[in-house]
Amino acid sequence: MKKITIKTIGSWKENSKPFSVVTAYDYTSAKIINDSNIPIILVGDSASMVTYGFSSTIPVTMDEMILVCRAVAKACSSTFVVGDMPFLSYQSSVATAIKNAGLILKRGMAEAVKLEGGVEVKPQIKKIVSSGIPVMGHIGLTPQSVNQLSGHRIQGKDIQSAQKIIDDARAVEDAGAFAVVLECIPSELSKLISDTLSIPTIGIGAGPHCDGQVQVWHDILGLINNFHPKHAKKYLKLSDNITKALNQYNSDVANKKFPEKKHTSLCSPNIIKKIK
Ligand code: KIV
Repeated sequence: MKKITIKTIGSWKENSKPFSVVTAYDYTSAKIINDSNIPIILVGDSASMVTYGFSSTIPVTMDEMILVCRAVAKACSSTFVVGDMPFLSYQSSVATAIKNAGLILKRGMAEAVKLEGGVEVKPQIKKIVSSGIPVMGHIGLTPQSVNQLSGHRIQGKDIQSAQKIIDDARAVEDAGAFAVVLECIPSELSKLISDTLSIPTIGIGAGPHCDGQVQVWHDILGLINNFHPKHAKKYLKLSDNITKALNQYNSDVANKKFPEKKHTSLCSPNIIKKIK
């Protein structure tokens, strides 16, 4: 299949064709996605939690994001790869933002970057785009600002907050982003934004009116048992199945049921006899 491009992604909005995005953080998972019908992978900074074991997206570094991006990108012959820019890799200045966005493409081998924020990062988005790097925006609940937002809560539930999100959406589009993630905002607000913008909106916890949807790999496959975000649908209970398989393997070894003959290589008894 031909590589997906930002032109392809833009055409889905023009043709009202809903599309899906899923996160990935390693080569093997990315290969499965590349061989599926899902057209876009986001190498999310959720890697901070699901790959590196931190409790928020704040600690993950550029080097750690580049490592996971590189692994994912190697598997993606057709799937479009977006690499997330980690906390404080773009906020402090336009120059820092361009340098780090460049590294996500040059070393991380992604095709685009994603960064959080609206009006306040408009200069960064503008300059990254004019440097030749496609940008996906991310507004609404922006997890890198979890401390400023006092937790992972739905945004845009009052007039002031909803107005800020609309202003952010317009700023991101105006700056030249090719798409924008709307995270955890009311469905009516994401409908208004999706109807207003000419670039595709990609929702997570933002209802059915977005042009596309994004989900975290671990959430839809049921890989984490004690975390059930309201916006995620579990398509599998993979964690339970993996535990079952591991316990079966452990028990087979303990009971000498593994390895069997078919898993074993033999040589002539003469060879063993001749060894001193
Ligand atoms: O890092 C991530 O996984 C994300 C998605 C939730 C949009 O930013």
